[in-house]
Amino acid sequence: MSSPLRRPLIAGNWKMNLTLAQSVDLARAVKEGAASASGEVAVCVPFTAITVVAEILRGSPVRLGSQDVYWEAQGAFTGEISAGMLVDAGCQMAIIGHSERRKLFGDSDEWVNKKLSAALKGGLTPIVCIGETLEERETQKTWRVLETQLAGGLKGFAPADLSKAVIAYEPVWAIGTGKTATPAQAQEAHLFVRAQLEKLYGKAFAAGTRVLYGGSVTADNVDTLMSQPDVDGALVGGASLKKDSFLRIMGFKAA
Ligand code: 13P
Repeated sequence: MSSPLRRPLIAGNWKMNLTLAQSVDLARAVKEGAASASGEVAVCVPFTAITVVAEILRGSPVRLGSQDVYWEAQGAFTGEISAGMLVDAGCQMAIIGHSERRKLFGDSDEWVNKKLSAALKGGLTPIVCIGETLEERETQKTWRVLETQLAGGLKGFAPADLSKAVIAYEPVWAIGTGKTATPAQAQEAHLFVRAQLEKLYGKAFAAGTRVLYGGSVTADNVDTLMSQPDVDGALVGGASLKKDSFLRIMGFKAA
């Protein structure tokens, strides 16, 4: 069970999935299920679904997020979306530095840092993703990778600037593979992340910052993951696309 300083957050990352009609349907179900959720709930939807989902979630406690944000405010940046545009469309959150963006689209720690800065300035709650690949884990580089990603991504802020920031530990080998980190592996990594946060921004910051776990979270494993003291929530991919599984995950039971 996570500290009372940190309200659990269950966030769905819909990735590049769902038609508008399917998005409307799922958003309605999440909104209805929010009353029996065990913590805060968010859905991070494709850019094209933001305005329709915002309309559905209006007046509900479910937060709406994007899956990326660009650091410039406006201009000739074909294909990109700014923090101001996301807020205007109804977002309150943004995922930054997801491993798919890092791997497929070249997002670096420096870019993560710039996107984070833009998100915070624009009033978005950032969910900053970090995580090691299988090869890095097998060659004992996990801690170095997490340390580098955190130091680079979170560089140059004051703790107060980052007070809303959320970190998501998503081991790349667990994403979309059905190979969830064991609760002990997740706890060990989250504890390490919290120690790094303390090193960067102090004890109070580390104690108050939510660290989510992501990677093959399902209705069947969420309870044991959420029972770990440093797991403050989940970033859920595949299982967030189905009403039944996401609603069950939203209503997790932590021991
Ligand atoms: P899966 O839950 O499908 O493994 O995806 C996790 C993820 O990448 C969430 O951002």
